[in-house]
Amino acid sequence: TYSDFVFIKGKIMFQRVKGTSDNFFEMAYWNGVIKKIEAHLKRYNFNQIDIPLIEHTSLFERGLGVETDVISKQMFLLENKSSNSDSMCLRPEGTAGTMRAFLENQNQVTLPARLFCYGSMFRYERPQKGRLREFHQVNLEIIGAKSILQDAYFIKMLQVLFIETLSLEDFVLKINFLGQPEDRAKYCQSLVATLTPHKEQLCDVCKTRLDKNPLRILDCKSQTCQELTKQAPKLKEFFSNETQAEFQLLQETLQELAVTFIIDDQLVRGLDYYNKTVFEFVSVNLGAQSTFCGGGRYDGLAQQLGSKTEIPALGCAIGMERLLMILENKKDFLSEKQAPLSCVIPMETAQNKVALHIADHLASQGLTVEILIDEQKIKKMKKAGDLKATYALIIGEDEQKANSVMVKNMLNGTQELIKQNNLVDYLKK
Ligand code: HAM
Repeated sequence: TYSDFVFIKGKIMFQRVKGTSDNFFEMAYWNGVIKKIEAHLKRYNFNQIDIPLIEHTSLFERGLGVETDVISKQMFLLENKSSNSDSMCLRPEGTAGTMRAFLENQNQVTLPARLFCYGSMFRYERPQKGRLREFHQVNLEIIGAKSILQDAYFIKMLQVLFIETLSLEDFVLKINFLGQPEDRAKYCQSLVATLTPHKEQLCDVCKTRLDKNPLRILDCKSQTCQELTKQAPKLKEFFSNETQAEFQLLQETLQELAVTFIIDDQLVRGLDYYNKTVFEFVSVNLGAQSTFCGGGRYDGLAQQLGSKTEIPALGCAIGMERLLMILENKKDFLSEKQAPLSCVIPMETAQNKVALHIADHLASQGLTVEILIDEQKIKKMKKAGDLKATYALIIGEDEQKANSVMVKNMLNGTQELIKQNNLVDYLKK
């Protein structure tokens, strides 16, 4: 039962939980990308919110649909401490929680509310490249947006984010239109009628979907299921005139805004709350887990979660791990710039005290400082190099007597004796 641990000489070495990741070395890159995304979203009047990592399980069952993979297989349920409290879980996504939070606060919110939040999501999946059990999303929602022109403008905003702000290359935008629940009900009847005679050829999962959630068969990765659905009628053939006109308007507006897209009839997305527009940004370089951003419109969710009135809404989530994977070759450009490091080096224990004062003073003046106390004298310069210090601030007996510091520029090897009083100005210049 300790399968996640390794034993070394009989001692347990703890390891991270399967499907999670540590971010030990890449924070400058993560933060650099997050800051660029935040700045971009703020220009489009998105406001940041924060919502809990734990919610009632029923929120997601209601919102996402009990037949979806996320609900039926991937939920991280929490052990209940008290028998009369509702089941709780770790959030598998951000939309249901955002809508719940909005509904609880709506008296104080002006619509349209453009909201974003950032953080961990949890799904019990088989871990592989680009698929984790704890992963991070930037989750964007526009609550109270009725016109289909909002969808086009939102998608345009995302494309500008990816192309201009993040310099992303080699991706495609796929869109599809799921119509209204009535359109889909008619379509599903026809899909079931077409596929039932071939039921035995469908994969096991799709055999169940045929009864419970036939639309999801369109999304199946199995070759046979794909072949069978290709022969089936298309959803758009069941659109009412009104739905058809709206899809047309979406496409025209995207073209008007110079958004390049392809229409993918098979795109249905994995969550049940969507209607009308659905879309995915797909990298051509990521292999199997290639969608780094997915979303769409979900006009029915507010009412599913108890709202008396319909509150039309749309949104998407960007998968951070996948985005960072495809931006890897832009890492230097995207990473937060590190401030130059000054490494204070007392040569003997007699200089430790003055070194501590100097280090403390430099840090209080906004400089980035390290101090080397524990190392042997002869190892200190090498350590300053290992730490990638820009300046080594050497204080020996002579420097101490002269109230000075020998500042060695580690990049070009030059050095200069600087009065302690002038040190901040010198390092900031
Ligand atoms: P989703 O398609 O389930 O949509 O997830 C959005 C993105 O999160 C995916 O395209 C992918 O990049 C990333 N992602 C999902 N699962 C994993 C995983 N196991 N490991 C790594 N990355 C993953 C939603 O979550 C919707 N709530 C999006 C939305 C917001 N729709 C409307 N508003």
